[in-house]
Amino acid sequence: MKNSHNLPRREFLAASAAGLSLATRIAHAAEPATPAALAVDGGEKAVKTAFKQPPRFGEPERERLNEMLGQDTLFYWKGPQTGIFTERFQQICPLKHVMTCSSGTAALHIAVAAAGIWPGDEVITAPITDIGTVIGVIYQMGVPVFADLDPTTYNLDPADVERRITPKTKAIIAVHLAGNPCDLDALKAVADKHNLILIEDCAQAWGAKYRGKPIGTIGHIACWSLQNSKHITTGDGGVVASNDDALGPRLQWFGDKGFDRINGGQFSFFSTNYRMSETQAAVAAGQITRLEDIVATRSKLGNLLSERIAGVKGITAHNVHAEDRCSFWFYMFRMDLAAFSCDRAQFVKALVAEGVQASAGYIPVTMHHNPVFLNHGFFAGKWPVKEMGLTDMDFSKHETPEAEKILTTGVRIVIHESMPEQYIEEAAYAVRKVAAHYSV
Ligand SMILES: Cc1ncc(COP(=O)(O)O)c(C=O)c1O
Repeated sequence: MKNSHNLPRREFLAASAAGLSLATRIAHAAEPATPAALAVDGGEKAVKTAFKQPPRFGEPERERLNEMLGQDTLFYWKGPQTGIFTERFQQICPLKHVMTCSSGTAALHIAVAAAGIWPGDEVITAPITDIGTVIGVIYQMGVPVFADLDPTTYNLDPADVERRITPKTKAIIAVHLAGNPCDLDALKAVADKHNLILIEDCAQAWGAKYRGKPIGTIGHIACWSLQNSKHITTGDGGVVASNDDALGPRLQWFGDKGFDRINGGQFSFFSTNYRMSETQAAVAAGQITRLEDIVATRSKLGNLLSERIAGVKGITAHNVHAEDRCSFWFYMFRMDLAAFSCDRAQFVKALVAEGVQASAGYIPVTMHHNPVFLNHGFFAGKWPVKEMGLTDMDFSKHETPEAEKILTTGVRIVIHESMPEQYIEEAAYAVRKVAAHYSV
């Protein structure tokens, strides 16, 4: 379908979402006729605009912390700061049952425990993620199964997820990598068809939206991280939440030593202590007031970069669905290495010399190709579920070819809310300049 600008609907929406005038967008799509000398070869740098990251903490956090110091308790249960943070969280993500906890890893462990993962149960997830996605699965004696990824969104390919379902599969963990929403309708359809729990790992995706809806509201349970590198932070911290009345109360039990603080009584559930203190909650309550600005800016900058590198030969932009909001924890484009006379390392070196904050790939290897997975070295060098014959998983034979290619052809660009649009314009020019120089 074309609009009055004769652009396909998807491109039109992406341009509008980025807040760009179509005339500007089209003007910038052209590659320079004669490539300028690269900075790495002594030429002029493409990036001239400087930016400075402002302090991350200030009045909103101070106000909460000051109030907290007047309290008699810093314990989470009925804690005023935990209450305020929870309310503010629910304003951006309307989930009924919310458990604040000590990390994103803790949130994910609580989620899989609440989902009832039992020794030998399989949980399908993404091979490009933080190890925190699967730590809880391993501790619950479940078996992580890694499905392949979409080549341009870097998120789970729902068809490959479905191919990997076995009678032992109990859950899917959808990782919204870099803040880019997964194909949640398709994943939810697969989960519903096979009676699986869908857990959303939103650790990198604060403020992201899927078809206009806050991520975290489509799956059965959703998890966030408040670790230092995330959009908002308490140094360490996490949130796990659900709208499901059966699963929801378990989030509190599993995060709090198995103790049901509403009904009391004896322990029915076995768990560890993943509670968040009021100190962290106070900082989180301040930080969350900054979220919308942070995410709106990152989303605009990431989309702008995509617009400006669209059509560059040999480069595929980070693909965000036109109706979604990616919160760009990072930006990653892919290189078609055959289209260039240099390798990725040289391309990245040239970009860095131009003044772009760029690096090659993301994690060094797909999750299951780390020694701890290859050697099944989880518990004192052994894996009880394997020893007990509950799984025949051999991670060295586990193949996710697209994920491997993403890691060897991806180029990561830092996106930060403190960057002026002009910086992104110049960074995009740097990509076009370097690509033109090495183009074959
Ligand atoms: C996708 C993803 N999942 C889980 C985690 C774990 O979060 P945390 O570091 O707070 O334990 C992270 C942290 O980087 C992450 O990026």
